Amino acid sequence: MATRWGICSAGKISHDFTVALKTLPAEDHQVVAVAARKLENAQEFANKHSISRVYSSYEELARDPDIDVVYVGVIHPYHLSACKLFTNAKKNVLCEKPLAMNAKEVKEILDSAKKNDVFLMEAVWTRFFPASVQIRNLLAQGEIGEVKMVRADFCVPLLHVPRSVQKDLGGGALLDLGIYCLQFISMVYNGEKPESIQASGICLETGVDESVAVILKYSKNRMATFTCSAGVQLPNDAIIAGTKGKIQVPSPMWCPTSLVVNEKETQYPVPEPHLPLNFTNSTGMCYEAEEVRQCLLKGLKESPVMPHADSLLLAEMEDEIRRQVGVVYSQDCQ
Ligand SMILES: NC(=O)c1ccc[n+]([C@@H]2O[C@H](COP(=O)([O-])OP(=O)(O)OC[C@H]3O[C@@H](n4cnc5c(N)ncnc54)[C@H](OP(=O)(O)O)[C@@H]3O)[C@@H](O)[C@H]2O)c1
Repeated sequence: MATRWGICSAGKISHDFTVALKTLPAEDHQVVAVAARKLENAQEFANKHSISRVYSSYEELARDPDIDVVYVGVIHPYHLSACKLFTNAKKNVLCEKPLAMNAKEVKEILDSAKKNDVFLMEAVWTRFFPASVQIRNLLAQGEIGEVKMVRADFCVPLLHVPRSVQKDLGGGALLDLGIYCLQFISMVYNGEKPESIQASGICLETGVDESVAVILKYSKNRMATFTCSAGVQLPNDAIIAGTKGKIQVPSPMWCPTSLVVNEKETQYPVPEPHLPLNFTNSTGMCYEAEEVRQCLLKGLKESPVMPHADSLLLAEMEDEIRRQVGVVYSQDCQ
């Protein structure tokens, strides 16, 4: 039986996610409904993607009994309210990154999912790319020896995008871009908490971070560094350096289609989209969608690849980095 998806919001990433679902077999994945704050936006989305049920509120989607899992594609200040709405309605949830604005909100979402006994995952899609699966295999096999250093960058000019710069829309490079570097470092170091975090950054007049550079120190003299910026472009690659070799993730490191392991390159192309996409390699969201299906079939409440503990650790690290850089959201004061 197909996994029946409901789509919450008719924005850019919801479009790309729905296109990604179409790259998977129809007998495995179906989009059965879409909800947006305005009926006309939901209707336009439904027409484009041939979705039969259309709702003008997220509450109506939460009440639909024929949905197995809701994809939450709203901007991050609204992740908390949307996730709680659906978990309280006993719906499984895949929520876009960052799961919430801070660790306090993330805890509230995770508690709600646990209390309602539903599956919930932060949509850290990178982890499910074949290249990421291969990285984890290579590390487990000791291919590059003991990892000593990880470096990642994600810097793209986004100052023209309101949701990237306005504080009330959840703007800031760390929560939008830096999270990909943090999740990469965390994946390599198996969800370990760093011993120390040193961050420095530059803020926009709106009070959110434009650029951030971070040094993380882990146990056993292991380190990681990353930069993220919404102001400039960097190569946006990543590297894992070990005692016996290195793994390079060429750009785009957040949705990788190639790996260079000790100078040998392998390609991992993503499926072709049937409609134009808003973001790079978005059909690669099919891998996380299939992970959700497999978890639901197994009756799991969280993914072993992107577990709740990792979402909480990411949020705690983001909180600490923002504290050092001086970025405070209204959600931090509630
Ligand atoms: N995985 C990825 O590669 C990726 C890429 C881009 C973004 N994202 C994440 O996806 C989320 C959405 O990003 P996006 O680029 O798709 O954003 P977007 O198109 O600007 O907005 C998405 C939806 O959020 C709701 N929204 C927007 N502004 C709002 C406001 N002022 N008040 C209340 N709701 C508002 C709207 O829902 P309605 O349609 O219901 O009105 C809108 O369609 C973000 O959390 C972002 O971090 C992930």
